[in-house]
Amino acid sequence: MVDPILKWAGGKRQLLDDIVSLFPKDYQDRAFHEPMFGGGAVTFHVGPSEGTINDIVPRLMIFYEVVRDNPEELIEESRKLEEEYGNNEKKYYEARDEFNKPIRGEKLDKVREASLLLYLNRTCFNGLYRENSKGEFNVPFGDYSNPDFVREKQIRECSKILKNLEILNEDFEYIIDKAKPGDLVYFDPPYQPVSETADFTQYAKEGFDFSEQERLRDTCVKLDKNDVFFVLSNSWAEPVRELYEEVEKFEVNQVSAKRDISSKAETRGPVYEILVTNVSKELQRGKSQKKLASYG
Ligand SMILES: C[S@@+](CC[C@H](N)C(=O)[O-])C[C@H]1O[C@@H](n2cnc3c(N)ncnc32)[C@H](O)[C@@H]1O
Repeated sequence: MVDPILKWAGGKRQLLDDIVSLFPKDYQDRAFHEPMFGGGAVTFHVGPSEGTINDIVPRLMIFYEVVRDNPEELIEESRKLEEEYGNNEKKYYEARDEFNKPIRGEKLDKVREASLLLYLNRTCFNGLYRENSKGEFNVPFGDYSNPDFVREKQIRECSKILKNLEILNEDFEYIIDKAKPGDLVYFDPPYQPVSETADFTQYAKEGFDFSEQERLRDTCVKLDKNDVFFVLSNSWAEPVRELYEEVEKFEVNQVSAKRDISSKAETRGPVYEILVTNVSKELQRGKSQKKLASYG
């Protein structure tokens, strides 16, 4: 059980209990996959012994490869950045420009790239990761007095967990071929906006519109046919709820959470989210304290 290294929009730390309560009781003995990894709060919480992690953002998965394979070099390089750059706006934009080198076809050492991502993640506005249409990271400076981003113990612990896992950079549908019967998959897609202006969904240059939400639902149906277990979270948005309610076997739950990152301060209050699963009630691990408010 480790906290995620990166801040990530839609980070799942608040909902961990609710999510894990839907997992099969013996989930720790199963291969675990997280195809939309982001900050990876659930994987780092579970600490699986085998499985895959994946995200569409290439630089993010390079970052996790470095955490897994070169944690000590990452710590050393990030310490240098911390001392040299600190909380300085001019340096921030220099670092952002250097980080975007590979997008312009220029070379950047992997460990350097990963330490720049860690630095930018901790010093940029709201800890957002957002790319423009070319794939360049474009979030402005955040101006935090003490960024404190090199958490050595956490990097080492996350590294240990990642050593058990395959790291991929594909579209989420890879999971249909990858997951074996009995495996468990957790999906956390970019949320379907509950209103036209409310939510942040633009992580990667590809975006995620409603046809993607449909494609994801169809992927869940295919996994279910292959006897693969899944749990999925999303916003409590009417069209999403309808998508999953169309499938009789899927269980749809409503839970409330506070978002880590929101575009407007006034929308930081409790929001409702959806948790969908094909794990049957008898197999679910359940919660020791409070019960999930089941919908319908
Ligand atoms: C809500 S975030 C996941 C947050 C994560 N659960 C956490 O704890 O930080 C959704 C992620 O889906 C990724 N994503 C978007 N489209 C994707 C696709 N087609 N295939 C795989 N990942 C995708 C985004 O890059 C983003 O990191």
